[in-house]
Amino acid sequence: MLHLETLEQLRRTRQQWAESKASVAFVPTMGNLHEGHLRLVAAARELADKVIVSIYVNPMQFGANEDLDKYPRTLAADMEKLTAAGADAVFTPDTSMIYPRGLGDQTYVEVPGISDTLCGASRPGHFRGVATIVCKLFNMVQPDHAVFGKKDYQQLMVIRLMSQDLSLPLTIHGIDTVRADDGLALSSRNGYLSTAERQQATAVYRSMQAVAHALQGERNDFQNIEQEARSILKDAGFTPDYVSIRRQADLTPPSAEDTQLVVLVAAYLGKTRLIDNLEINR
Ligand code: PAJ
Repeated sequence: MLHLETLEQLRRTRQQWAESKASVAFVPTMGNLHEGHLRLVAAARELADKVIVSIYVNPMQFGANEDLDKYPRTLAADMEKLTAAGADAVFTPDTSMIYPRGLGDQTYVEVPGISDTLCGASRPGHFRGVATIVCKLFNMVQPDHAVFGKKDYQQLMVIRLMSQDLSLPLTIHGIDTVRADDGLALSSRNGYLSTAERQQATAVYRSMQAVAHALQGERNDFQNIEQEARSILKDAGFTPDYVSIRRQADLTPPSAEDTQLVVLVAAYLGKTRLIDNLEINR
């Protein structure tokens, strides 16, 4: 596997791939890779001749009081996993390359509407940071395909809309969430949980299953159902940020006629903020 650290190295490799008419699939990550990330790499492997993964903890998408400094950085282990997963290259830019003029003056990409609700409401500027870095990485890597997890459902939607709005010449793919046996979605942030918290964390999946059960039982009192799910989280020791039933298509609030729904959850366990979601078709 190639390790590309500079833009020059990336461009040279990309040029060689273009000359050999190889198609390219791209998986952007912030590292600390787990089975969820590797599932995206496996999907990318199926999509194109060459697979490139980026590892970059993007300061622009972290709020002032968030976990940028303590976000886990495990490059050596990540490289081993990517080699085993059959990635052709890993791109590990640093901040002086990504934001040479500093964050303050950086041109940014903002996807209106979708960026202001749910996680966007709780984390102002977060999706601007995500859209900007992903757009920049797309311009650097120039992939034919890019692969994202549905684990970050709203992020996937922001990226789809950005790509559509800016006529970016690539296809975006969304991959199902990889979970532990007890239902907890794999996440780098699970590493912040104590043993006791890791047990409590199963309530996230339980709360979403309760919502699925209610919606599939033809209930349409969405606010009550959300409230019941929040109670499950609170009883397990969480401080819920939001539990929200939305339309899959655009994350707007549903009506009784809607059949393709998604429940999205964000909740704090101690200082750790966990997010998850479940698509519910009825
Ligand atoms: P990161 O949290 O490292 O996630 C990288 C990709 O892995 C995202 O597309 C995310 O949805 C996916 N992913 C994470 N956990 C998953 C799981 N359990 N199952 C399936 N896919 C999973 O998301 C980011 O990084 C950043 O915001 C990024 C897009 C790289 C921009 O900085």
